[in-house]
Parts: sequence; structure tokens; C-alpha cells
Amino acid sequence: MNYGRIKYFNIEGSRVEITFENAVGYITAVTEEIINIFSPFKPECNHSFAIEGDKSRNVHVIANMVGNYIVISTSKLAIYVYDNFQTQIMTSDGTLICRDYKGEREAQGAAIITQEAIEQARMEGHAMSDGIAHHKIEVLKCMEGSECFYGLGDKYNFLNKKGYAFEMWNSDIPDPHYESMPSLYKSIPFLIVHREKVDYGIFFDNHHRTQFDLGKENAGYYSFSADDGDLNYYVISGDSIKSVVSGYTYLTGTTPLPQLWTLGYQQCRWSYENRDELMSVAVSMRKNEIPCDVLYCDIDYMDDFKVFTWGEKQYPQHREMIDTLSEHGFKVVTIIDPGVKKEEGYSVYDEGVRNDFFVHGTDGRIYENVVWPGDSVFPDFGRRAVRNWWADKQRIMTDDGVAGIWNDMNEPASFRGEIPEDVVFCDEERKTTHSEMHNVYGSLMSKATYEGIRRHTGKRPFVITRACYSGAQKYTTGWTGDNQSHWSHLRYSIAQMCSLGLSGMAFIGSDVGGFGSDCTPELLCRWTQVGCFTPLFRNHAAKGTRHQEPWAFDQQTLDICRKYIRLRYRLIPYLYDCFHETESTGLPVFRPLVLEFQKDKNVLEINDQFMVGQWLMVAPIVDQGRVSRDVYLPKGCNWYDFHTGERFPGGTRILREAPLDTCPIYVREGAVLPMWPVMNYVGEKKVDCLELVVYGGDGEYLHYQDNGTDFAYRDGEYNLYRFVSKRGCLSVELVNAGYAERYERFKINLSGKLFNVKFTGRRLNAIR
Ligand code: GLC
Repeated sequence: MNYGRIKYFNIEGSRVEITFENAVGYITAVTEEIINIFSPFKPECNHSFAIEGDKSRNVHVIANMVGNYIVISTSKLAIYVYDNFQTQIMTSDGTLICRDYKGEREAQGAAIITQEAIEQARMEGHAMSDGIAHHKIEVLKCMEGSECFYGLGDKYNFLNKKGYAFEMWNSDIPDPHYESMPSLYKSIPFLIVHREKVDYGIFFDNHHRTQFDLGKENAGYYSFSADDGDLNYYVISGDSIKSVVSGYTYLTGTTPLPQLWTLGYQQCRWSYENRDELMSVAVSMRKNEIPCDVLYCDIDYMDDFKVFTWGEKQYPQHREMIDTLSEHGFKVVTIIDPGVKKEEGYSVYDEGVRNDFFVHGTDGRIYENVVWPGDSVFPDFGRRAVRNWWADKQRIMTDDGVAGIWNDMNEPASFRGEIPEDVVFCDEERKTTHSEMHNVYGSLMSKATYEGIRRHTGKRPFVITRACYSGAQKYTTGWTGDNQSHWSHLRYSIAQMCSLGLSGMAFIGSDVGGFGSDCTPELLCRWTQVGCFTPLFRNHAAKGTRHQEPWAFDQQTLDICRKYIRLRYRLIPYLYDCFHETESTGLPVFRPLVLEFQKDKNVLEINDQFMVGQWLMVAPIVDQGRVSRDVYLPKGCNWYDFHTGERFPGGTRILREAPLDTCPIYVREGAVLPMWPVMNYVGEKKVDCLELVVYGGDGEYLHYQDNGTDFAYRDGEYNLYRFVSKRGCLSVELVNAGYAERYERFKINLSGKLFNVKFTGRRLNAIR
């Protein structure tokens, strides 16, 4: 788009409207540090699927014409706007944040090759580019040289994505994922740019198909683009990566506190084919003393793959089964896909047809494609009435005692080719296309699911989704879809989950053991050692693959899996504290080292170590046959080996022995780790004595406690304890006393010295 020269501007509150020769552009200061850059291309659809409610803080903005450009300032930023709607953003003290690239696009290093040669290579199936693809909406920003690019949600790639190009188009990909894959299931067009002393985010809030090129085309610029929707992006500035992530989640929402049991171990398989098989998994869990909270029913529990039904043949008396499982501490989570079987007499289909709730083809007839149930139709989740209907449907499952809903295939996936882009979908009552609603379909389905569960149960809904768009974290957790039992998939899952976390999706996990292909005992051990630290800890495998429950191999594998699943249960109070932090700050639970230690250049590209919250660092083994590894301990603090207690200075690289039963774990000095006793499932034992392990140095830690179930905490029904460790002493203070159940005792491990102290009032002073 050629905007042409600036003609004049108007300022209205915190928004500046700039009239160019050929179009209008807007710069709005949402907050002092978040700027929205907008120009309407498709005015009828300009609402956000990611941002809900008014986020503007009525910022005081000043705008002046200086020669032939405009300077717009907030107290923190100065935005220079030039002809052709080009911008440059600076901090108020004159540091450059980012500026548009003024040159022409040019593909660096492109091979000169004839059309004939291209066609020939394509014949063998090679993907050949047609050269530079121009887009209707295209923003090019200068590469200043030292950028690292993080975020972008669900990308199967390294933490730093510089040099790669991606697309945002929710895609169901059962083939093995690989590192230069443009898109996967989720589209989160949020990019974090880190340079020395500069951090900012770009949130391109365009839910159509979009592209990001991070210096692949040309090292002189990076770009984002689209052929539909509006030019609509936010520059989120901040003094650290953390503040950029918080800025993004300020706009799009944070992950709310989950129910406590959702942090337990979860066992899944496509499928536990019938009731006996599922019950025998439950029995094996308890017999083998593997803590476990959740068992899954994958698609085969349904009657002929009809959603919201149970197959009586496979799962007779399912309510009674769920009750029995519940008596033994298991929750049941069922899968629900969007594809509704086309079958007259099936109530979900009939109701949908009667109320006109399914999407239509361009010929005006209900659109059909094939998914698990065969010929299927697709709810038009863009409409409130359809979402309400779907929300009501959740009751069928929750009344049966189902504790959570797993939303799959909601890209939406279809087996008879991808749904054509012109199939008619709605955005509320406006008719539009599949192409426009594709990337938000999974989000809208998850939101309906969340609202239904919340309405029917009053509890914090547990929803898992495969597909979504930015902002879905308010309603759903996510898993990374169909990975494979490959070592490389274990390795890449770390950066993938870190990237999702940086992009707002704090409750995330990958299928432990790998979904497709056969797992090996060694891989299961190593994957469980990573999985026990991921927010969603679920072992899952595909039909036809070898079983990979903890006991499926040999005694050693069982023992190792048990050890790490038990460790998970010991750490649940810590993880819950991380979630408590997430709800207010948007910072992820599973984080890359760079989020905590960005000043330490050595961590900018660490893909195979991660942090859990701010106190634990894990350096897992992600290669077959390896029994030791180098571990980088970031600068700025000392570190304790979790297993041996040995102390190491930060800024060092060490070699750690890691036989199969050992996952290297380090604790940051100053930590006060709260721990639970091991239990078979969350809630099995009442925890009136909390264990605290203090790791040297001075530190402060906030510990959160509530009923772990509903929303009473939002009315103040929670306790908050402050643990301060200083010069070898620990003090405890109850800083919010809103929840009736409190700890009666603390079992404290203070640098090896053990204390068992009663807690009756609100303070415990200087235990030493
Ligand atoms: C998809 C899901 C997978 C599930 C399977 C059957 O492949 O990604 O997790 O098990 O469908 O429902």
C-alpha cells in the first residue's frame, strides 16, 4: 500500500489520526509503553479475537508536526511518523526501539534458476519458492544487527528464530514435525525482539493467514505481512523481556489459576478402547504406586464418534465407571472434536440443522467434509448463539462426572482436503469466509467449552486445545499436538514450550513419550524427566504404537518414571505458586533461561535447559545414550545441585553425570521451595504441614494457598505466606489470611538442619 505524503493529522485523546494522500493511519497510545499502529483495510472486521475489553489507559499524548514528519510522544516513547506511514519508535531518552525499513525487498542469496529447473525439482516433490511474494499488508523493520527473536507461539524451532520464516495458519500435521516448519496448530502472531539494552514486542493482531520473515529473505530487515484483514499491530516496549511478555498478556489476558488436580500426572492413549482397559490402567497406577490424577478417554469412547455420546458397547455404565474412578482419586477427561456426525436422529446434528448452527458452502447448503465420524458438519463457532449451544452441550459431559474437556481437531482438521477458504463462516451475524475464521476457530470452540464448564460446575474449567489464536490462554490450556517418539522431538519440545509460554500460553505440555511411532524405555525415562516439569504433564500415544505407560517396559523404566512422577507431586505447591504468579504477571511457568537472565549473553540461545518459575533450572538429557552433559549455570547467583546439595557459582559451565535415573536439576540460591509429601493423587492427603527447603543465600518467596477448585479466591479466599531467608535464618509471615485451612506446621530444611515448627499465629521469626 502506498499511503503517500502526510497531509495533516488530528489528535483525539490518546489517538492520532493521520491523513496521507491515499489513506488514513492511526497511532494510539494504549498505555505509556504500548502503541497501536493501525490502518483499516477491511473495516467490517476490525475487532480483535485476542483482546477483550478496553485496554486503553487514557494516556496523555502530544503530537507535533516537525518539518515533514510528525512526532507523537507519551511519557515513555516518541513515535516519529513519516510519509507513506513509515514509523520510527524511540524511548523518551532517545534509544532506538525500532524503525521501518525504507528500501525495497530483495531476496539475498537467492539462486538464479530457470522456471524449467524449478518445475523439474518440483516433480520430485521439492518445495520451490517462486521468489519474493508480496502481500497487501506488509511491514518491514530494520534489522539493527544483534536481534534475537523469541515467541511466535507454536513453532517447532529454536528459541531464537532469527533467520527463519513462518506462517500463521493453524495446521493439523500428523507427519513428523521439523525445525523449519512454517506453521503448526496454533497461530500466535506475537514476536519478542531482544537486542542489547532493547526489548520490545510486536503483536500483529491479524487473525487471517499471516507471514513472519525474521531475516530469512534478507538480513537487513524482518517483516510481517498479510493479504487480508487490517494493518493492525502493537509495539510493546519494556525494560526487559519479562515486561514485554507482561505487556502482551496485559492486552490479551493471562492464564488463570487452574484447579490443583490438573497439575497431577495424566495418562492418555488413543485409545483405551473400552472400560476394562481404562479401569486396568487405573489399577496398574495404584498397584505400581505411580501417582496419577487424570485418565483420558480418546475418540473411541463415543458411540460411532458422535460427540457428546458414549458408546454403551465399549463403555457400559460410564457414570458408574467415572464414580468408581473418582473414589480412587482419578478424574476423567474426554475428547470432544468439532466435527459433528451427519446423521438424522442424532440430537446434536438435528439441533444444529434445525437452528442453522453449521457452516455453509457457497451454494448455501450445509458444508460437509470427513472427520472421524465419516461425513461431518462443523459448528459455526463465530456466532454467539452457536457458542452458547456448544457451552450448554458441555453439561452432558459434566453431569456424567467428566472433569475436563480436551478439544482436538479444531484447526479445523478435515480428511477430504482442507476446508476451502471460501466456505461461509460467520463472525457473529456477519457472513464471512473460512479463510477469515480459520485461525480463531479453535479459540472460539475453547471459549465456548470454558464458558459451559464454568456455568455448569462453578469450578475453574480444565480445557485443553490443539488449535487456537492469541488470547486463548484465558480459556484453555494447550498441548503441542502430534509429536513423535523421536529424540529430536523431545529436544525441540523444550524451545517449543518455552516459545508458547513467552507467547501467553502458560499452561502447556507435549505428549510425554511422543505420540506417533514407538517409544523406547530410555526415551520414556528421559521424556518423563522433562514432562514432570511441564505445566501439563500428560503421557499420550497414538493408535497402533507400542504402549508407553510407565510399566509398559521393564522394572528400571517403571522405577525411573515413578521417581520423577513422584517428584512432580512433591513440587505441586511450587508449580501452583508459579501459576499464581502467572495469573497476575502473565509470565510463564516453563521458561527459557533468557527470561530470567537476559543480561547473561550465554543464555540467549540455550535450547536444552529451561527454568520452572524463577527458582528451578533443569538441564535434561535429550539425546539417546548420553549419560552426562554440560550444564550452563547463569551468572548473577550461586546454584545448588538439587540431588546432591553441592553449590556452584553462577557463570560457570560444568559437566554433570546423568545416568538414566538422573535428570540434572539446579536450584537458584535464595530459594525457599515449598513441597508436599508424595501422594497418589491431589487431595489424597490433607497437607497441614508444609515442607520448606531453603537454599542458602538471601531470598524472599511468596507462597499461595486456596481451595484449589473454584473462584472463591477472587473474592479474597486465599492465604499468602511470605518466607524470607536472610543470613541463614528463615522467617514466615501470613500476609493474607483469607482461606480457612492453614498450615499447622512447617517442616523446614535450612541448609541441612531440620526443624519441625508449629504455626499458630501469623508469624514465625528467625528460625536458625
Ligand atoms: C489427533 C490428536 C491426538 C488424538 C487423535 C485421536 O491426532 O492430535 O492427540 O489422540 O487425534 O483422537
